[in-house]
Amino acid sequence: MVKRESHSSDHLTGGSSRKIMSTKLATALAAFFLLASIAVIIAIATVQTQKKTYLSPGLKYGIVLDAGSSRTTVYLYQWPAEKENNTGVVSQTTKCLVKGPGISEMNDDSWKYLKTCMDDITKHVPPSQHSSTPIFLGATAGMRLLHIKNEEASNTILQDIQKYLRSLPFNFQNASIISGQEEGLYGWITVNYLMGNFLEKNMWNAWVHPHGAKTVGSLDLGGASTQIAFTAPDDATGEDLIRVSLYGYEYNVYTHSFLCYGKNEAEKKVLAELVKSSTDWSRVNHPCYPADYSITMAASEIFDSECTKKSTPASYSPAKNITFFGGSDPVRCKDLVKRIFDFKSCQGKENCSFEGVYQPPVSGEFMAYAGFYYTAWALDVKGSNTLKQFNTAMLSFCSKPWATLKKNYEITEKHLKSYCYSANYVHTILADGYKFNDDNWENLNFQKEVNQTSIAWSLGYMLAQSNMIPAEAKLLKLPIPNSAFAGLLFVFSALTIITLMFLIITLVRFCF
Ligand SMILES: *[C@@H]1O[C@H](CO)[C@@H](O)[C@H](O)[C@H]1NC(C)=O
Ligand SMILES: *[C@@H]1O[C@H](CO)[C@@H](O)[C@H](O)[C@H]1NC(C)=O
Ligand SMILES: *[C@@H]1O[C@H](CO)[C@@H](O)[C@H](O)[C@H]1NC(C)=O
Ligand SMILES: *[C@@H]1O[C@H](CO)[C@@H](O)[C@H](O)[C@H]1NC(C)=O
Repeated sequence: MVKRESHSSDHLTGGSSRKIMSTKLATALAAFFLLASIAVIIAIATVQTQKKTYLSPGLKYGIVLDAGSSRTTVYLYQWPAEKENNTGVVSQTTKCLVKGPGISEMNDDSWKYLKTCMDDITKHVPPSQHSSTPIFLGATAGMRLLHIKNEEASNTILQDIQKYLRSLPFNFQNASIISGQEEGLYGWITVNYLMGNFLEKNMWNAWVHPHGAKTVGSLDLGGASTQIAFTAPDDATGEDLIRVSLYGYEYNVYTHSFLCYGKNEAEKKVLAELVKSSTDWSRVNHPCYPADYSITMAASEIFDSECTKKSTPASYSPAKNITFFGGSDPVRCKDLVKRIFDFKSCQGKENCSFEGVYQPPVSGEFMAYAGFYYTAWALDVKGSNTLKQFNTAMLSFCSKPWATLKKNYEITEKHLKSYCYSANYVHTILADGYKFNDDNWENLNFQKEVNQTSIAWSLGYMLAQSNMIPAEAKLLKLPIPNSAFAGLLFVFSALTIITLMFLIITLVRFCF
C-alpha cells in the first residue's frame, strides 16, 4: 500500500498535462461504456420479462377416462399452453377413482359415482377453459370381453356414456374401445414421455434426440389383460411390430396384449383349474390362499366369463356355491399358476413368450406398473431388485397364514388373500413367459408413477390423439433461446465489470 501510494504521488507530481488529459478522456469513455452497458442490460431484461408475460397465456387441460375392467379412473392433465408440443411438459393435475365396477357392469350406483368424479374434476378446471378442454374415454379389456360376449350390450353402454360425456361442459372427442395393441403402445409412449426419452434440451437450449438414448420397455397389468411393449431390433417384423415416428425419429415397437391374462381374469382361470380337478365343491383346497382362510363364492363368479367359458364343468349351475380353503403352500401354488399359461404352443420355437406368440428377446430397462407395481408393493420389492430377492419375498409371503397377514397389512381381504397368487402370476409371466432371468431381472423397475403422474396408457393416448407428439421434428426451432439471452447477459455484465474496474483504477490514480 505504502509503496503504491508513493509511486502514485511520484507519478502525479512528475506527470505531464498530456497524461492528465488522456486519463480524463479515458474516464469519460469508460463512464459512457458503463452507462451504455447498463442501458443494454436493462433493455434485454425488459424484453425478456415482456416476452415471458407475452408467452404465458396459462395452462391447458385434458381429461381421459380410463375405463378398465374392474373400475374407471378419471385423469386430469395440464400443460403450459405455449409448450404443448414439447416433451415432458404434461403432468397430472389430479385423478379420481370411480367407485364400483367397470363400465361393462354399469348400474345406477356406478353412474352416481361417475358423476361425483366428474363434478370433482370439473372443479379443478378454470371455467374459462372448460370448452377448450378435450375429453376422451378409452375402454379396455373388460369392454373387449363384453364386446365378444354381447356386442349389442357393449354398444349401448358406449352410446350412453358418450351421451353423458357430451352433456358435460368440455370438448368431447371420443369414447370407444381401444385395441390391446393401442393400449400397449400408448403405455410405452407414456413411460418414455415421462422419463424424457424422446427429446432433451441441448446446451443451446434446442430440443434434440438424446445422444445414444435408449427407450424403456413397458409392462402393464390390468384386471382383464396385460401388455408388453419395447423397442425391438430394426429387422424384427410381424403383426406385433409397429413403426412409430415421434419428433422425427422412427421406433420399431414390439407390443402384444394378452386378453384374459389380466390379474382378475387369470385368477378366475386358477380357480377354474382347481374346481376342474375337485370332486367336492364344498371343500376345494387352494394352495395360494393363506392357511386358515376360506371363502365361498357362487360358481358364476368364476365361470360367467369369456376367459373360463371353455373349462366350465358339466355339473355347473350359476348359483351353486364353491368353498375354497387356503393352504399357504408356495410350491404347489407355483405349479398351479404355471398351469394356466399355455407354454406348449411355444415348444421348439425360438423367440416365443406363450400361447405361441412371437416375441423378440427382451432388452434394456423395463417399467412394470399397475398390477405389477401393486404386487411388488405387497411383497416389499418395489423398484429394482434381483430375481433372488423377488423369490425370497414371494416364498415368505406365501408361507404366512391368514392371521399373520392380517396383522401385517391394512388392506382389504379381497386383495390381501390374492397377493400370493399374483406374486406367482407375476413371476411366471415375467420369467417363464417374457424370459426375464437372473441376469436381467434387475432391469425391471416396479413403479406406479413418475413425478406424481401415474404411469398409465391414458396419457400416451391423449398425447397421440391430440397430436401433441408430432411425427416430424419441425417444432425444434425456438424463438429466442434462453441460452442466447444468458450469453448476452454474461458478455454485457463482464464488460460492465471490466469498465467499472478500469474507472475505479483511473480515479484512484487520478486522485492520489
Ligand atoms: C403443435 O403441433 C401441432 C401439429 O403439428 C400444431 O397444429 C400446433 O399448432 C402446435 N402447437 C403449438 C403450441 O406449437
Ligand atoms: C376414436 O378412438 C378410436 C380408438 O382409438 C379410433 O379408432 C377412432 O378413429 C377414434 N375416432 C375419432 C373420431 O377420433
Ligand atoms: C350360497 O351361499 C350363500 C351364502 O354364502 C347362500 O345365501 C346361498 O343360498 C347359497 N346358495 C346355494 C345354491 O346353496
Ligand atoms: C430370435 O431372436 C434373435 C435375436 O434377435 C435372432 O438372432 C434370431 O434370428 C431369432 N430367431 C428366430 C427364429 O426368429
